[in-house]
Parts: sequence; structure tokens; C-alpha cells
Amino acid sequence: MQSPFNPLIQAQCLYSLEQVDNAIQTLAADICQQLQGVDSLVVLCVLKGGLVFTGRLLPYLTLPVQLEYVQVSRYGQNTQGGHLDWLTPVSSCLAGRHVLVCDDIFDEGKTLAALCLHLQQAQAASVQSAVLVEKCHTRKVPQFKPTFVGLQVPDAFVWGMGMDVQGFWRNAPGIFALKNSEE
Ligand code: IMP
Ligand code: MG
Repeated sequence: MQSPFNPLIQAQCLYSLEQVDNAIQTLAADICQQLQGVDSLVVLCVLKGGLVFTGRLLPYLTLPVQLEYVQVSRYGQNTQGGHLDWLTPVSSCLAGRHVLVCDDIFDEGKTLAALCLHLQQAQAASVQSAVLVEKCHTRKVPQFKPTFVGLQVPDAFVWGMGMDVQGFWRNAPGIFALKNSEE
């Protein structure tokens, strides 16, 4: 099976691997500062897109972290009421725990908003969210913003650093978009 895209030919690099890693280090410092006084943290990686971001973020977090993961998709168009389909269940009880949800991209925000709401309803002590990139447009869900955002990208389809294009190139070393997709 062949990938439909060759990122070296058909793509422009929006952020290099080095730029992404610098942004992740800055973001980690913000997270650690905000979490001062928190005794331990559950980092909840949203698979599959959040995998690379979470893996590169973890070593920069300077408090005791327990790593958990979830794979989730959403039914319905309503953000707050949207039914979550837990493709994998959250693997430990998060009630009373401080949770940081880590995902790849804040696009419209429907899945992340619904996931954070679910965790609040499950009585987490606190729920914060971190995304590697935010896509800049005005179609966001109301009343939700990720707590921490690493980088901003234009309103175009992007991939790399965990984000896929038709199932491929989650491994791309940087963040890429189709050439001229901003025009
Ligand atoms: P949202 O609920 O609209 O914020 O987006 C849900 C999911 O869609 C994200 O977590 C990503 O997995 C995926 N997604 C949205 N935009 C892109 C993109 O530009 N590239 C790759 N995946 C994307
Ligand atoms: Mg995702």
C-alpha cells in the first residue's frame, strides 16, 4: 500500500521538528508553572493523534505523572451533548485526580470539549487540556478553549507530529500542509 502524499514534494513545512520541539518545551514550562502545588498528574493521551505530542512533552514535565490513554470518537453534532464512543475505555478511575488531556489539534474542538466535560462529570479534581496546534478559524465550539496551545496553523489540512493524512505520515518530522493551501 502506498501513501497518497509525498510530503517532500507536495507539501510545505509550516514548522520544522526543531521548531515543534521548542514550542513543546515552552508549553511544558507553562504547564509546570500552572501546576505548581499539584502533587501528581494524570496525563491522558488522546490516541492516535496525541501520541507523538504526548511522548515528546512527558520528559519535560517535572512532577510525578501517570500516563493514561483514550481513543474516542464522537456521535452527533452537539458539543456538550455529543455522545462519546470510547474505542478504548479510560483505564483507571480519574475521580479526584488532576488530569491533563493531550491531543494533537484544536480544530473545531468538539471532541476535546466533550471529552473534558466527560472527565469533569467523572469528578476529576481538575481537568486541563493541551494541544500541539490550534487551527485558526472561527468555527470553534462555544465556551471551550484548550488550557495550553503550542503552535498555531492556518485553516488548512495539516499533518505530521502525530497527525495523519489519509492514515499516513503521522511520523512526518514537523508540521506540513499542502502547498499553497493557504491561498
Ligand atoms: P475537532 O473535534 O474538530 O477539534 O477535531 C477532531 C480531530 O480531527 C482532531 O483531534 C484530529 O484528530 C482531527 N483533525 C482535525 N483537523 C485535522 C488536520 O488538519 N489534520 C489532521 N487531523 C485533523
Ligand atoms: Mg484527534
